[in-house]
Amino acid sequence: MDCRDQNIDYDEIDITLPAPEEEPYRQYYYIAKARCYLRRMESEAGRKLTFCVQTFGCQMNARDSEKLCGILRAIGYAEQESEEGADFVLYNTCTVRENANNKVYGRLGYLHGYKKKNPHMLIALCGCMMQEEKVVAKIRKSYPFVDLVFGTHNIFKFAELFVQTCEQSSMVVDIWEGTTQIVEQLPNERKYPFKSGVNIMFGCNNFCSYCIVPYVRGRERSRRPEEIMDEIRRFVDDGVIEVMLLGQNVNSYGKNLETPVSFAELLSEIDQIEGLERIRFMTSHPKDLSDELIEVMAGSKKICRHLHLPLQSGSSRLLKIMNRHYTKEHYLELMDKIRAAMPDIALTTDIIVGFPGETEEDFEETMDVVRRVQYDSAFTFIYSKRTGTPAASMEDQVPEDVVKQRFDRLLKEIQNIAAKKADALTGQTMEVLVESINHQDPALVTGRLSNNFVVHLPGDESLIGKIVKVRLDEYKGFYYYGNLV
Ligand code: 5AD
Ligand code: SF4
Repeated sequence: MDCRDQNIDYDEIDITLPAPEEEPYRQYYYIAKARCYLRRMESEAGRKLTFCVQTFGCQMNARDSEKLCGILRAIGYAEQESEEGADFVLYNTCTVRENANNKVYGRLGYLHGYKKKNPHMLIALCGCMMQEEKVVAKIRKSYPFVDLVFGTHNIFKFAELFVQTCEQSSMVVDIWEGTTQIVEQLPNERKYPFKSGVNIMFGCNNFCSYCIVPYVRGRERSRRPEEIMDEIRRFVDDGVIEVMLLGQNVNSYGKNLETPVSFAELLSEIDQIEGLERIRFMTSHPKDLSDELIEVMAGSKKICRHLHLPLQSGSSRLLKIMNRHYTKEHYLELMDKIRAAMPDIALTTDIIVGFPGETEEDFEETMDVVRRVQYDSAFTFIYSKRTGTPAASMEDQVPEDVVKQRFDRLLKEIQNIAAKKADALTGQTMEVLVESINHQDPALVTGRLSNNFVVHLPGDESLIGKIVKVRLDEYKGFYYYGNLV
């Protein structure tokens, strides 16, 4: 069996032998075993069984979910969109803010209702929220009907955990504190045939004082450039024209590899891959964004004209307490440099309002950066206290009404700027990668410009996955309406 070949014939694997120790062969073995369990369940049920994976949170989770779906398909489940009536439901959770957790608890309640009616139903939870001890304790106590709980470090062994779930009547819980392991060559699946996320690194070493990610995703680990290049080449051979390189802090890619490689060097290599048309990446950290990277971006026709550069706060005083390692001035200089090198680039950001100790002056500094940078769009978040992070035990938490009032002011400013700027491209002809049929109007298709703006235009299914030239006729707030030229 060639580990490069993902068209594995699982029925050829002898599951009467003990499981091999080496990965990914061990997981191929467990997929074969899981297939037998599924066949048995299907013959008992007298029908094909289905799965539904629901993803919360960021692009990393979305990519992990694609991998988990790949394994469920290899096991033999058919996919369905909604949880209702699905026989295997998996929630891939997020814990970056408190409200993400509450959503999961709410939905578990209603899944229990389905499970009571369906003897073949299995419920599994994974992702960042499961890396928190108090969450797992709560699930054990209040949601004992859940069958499987695993975390962010061991998703590669999902098939093995699935088999354990079939063999054990009580809840299977497998959470790792951390790992250095990166398992390549598992069954894989992409949501879109023409674009894909590609993990280039896992984890985060930054420990921003408000953020739980380093605790739930572990230390930074970069994939080797050869593995990344191979994966992208395989994707391109299979019809992919756009990749999104994924990492919590892509700018520190490669620092800990045996032979260190910079993110800019990796990008230059990916840029050479024939047949690949567009390259995106996220997320960047201002402290590590190099001149070399700006140069590579500016010199490339494939790297998209969009940079998401989280600001978090415009106050140098707060940035220090947030452990961000840059000042307001440094951030503004960086933005100027980027705009000078690529005048047509779209700049977007993340901002937190109400970090402990935020004064009116601090907040005004944030507003000042927003006015100066003139972002194309921004994600704004109300600070959420995450247990275990340094900021959670800081004393001067900002009262809720003050936070709400600042949040509304910030949002208004961002919307005003975006509205003023947005019309800028009207009348121009630009390239759009068509992604889907429009959700509201089936006579339209929806795609994206290089700068990530959304465009709707008349068209049909035959355009999906193609890059087409479109005249942007009208800006409608959040998207352009255009026509093929
Ligand atoms: N509260 C509010 N927002 C947060 N983020 C991360 N942690 C928190 C928190 N505790 C935001 C940051 C980050 C984005 C992904 O989520 O802005 O860039
Ligand atoms: Fe969290 Fe900071 Fe790491 Fe981003 S860089 S994941 S905000 S700790």
